[in-house]
Amino acid sequence: MDKINRRDFIRSNFQIFGISAIASSIPLLFSCEMHTELVQPTLGIRIDIDLNQEEEISKLKIGWGILKRYPKVNNGIPIIIVRIGAEHYTCFSSLCTHDSCFGKNLFVQPRRSIIACECHGSEFDAANHGKVLKGPAEKPLKEFPVEFDPETKILSIFF
Ligand code: FES
Repeated sequence: MDKINRRDFIRSNFQIFGISAIASSIPLLFSCEMHTELVQPTLGIRIDIDLNQEEEISKLKIGWGILKRYPKVNNGIPIIIVRIGAEHYTCFSSLCTHDSCFGKNLFVQPRRSIIACECHGSEFDAANHGKVLKGPAEKPLKEFPVEFDPETKILSIFF
């Protein structure tokens, strides 16, 4: 993963979204400091999902997840959104770090917040930065930072 510093991140946000996006990114910058090595946005692209409109996501039970595809991010590879708490979501690339199976090959085991790859049986912890729970994969899934506003019900994902 390309490493970017805080200045590059702010600059890319400014160029794409302007000042209002910078203000909304401030909490993200602080939250990234806690796990800098594991979660780093790289493209400066933010997708806001209105859960008032997206019932598939808003009606997810805790520990369940869903595959979504946004062609302009993650090289067009689907992402997996997992609801790990009442107001807490996480998001990962569906590209398995073992041998590159992706998309529907990966699924969330119901109620467990565990992402499994059906190709060779790897399992990843969606509540713990995609950490490998079971091999043969050795590296965690790529995680994308997420913010959720419970008042507006906007789920923002940063790529
Ligand atoms: S490609 Fe996912 S476990 Fe092998």
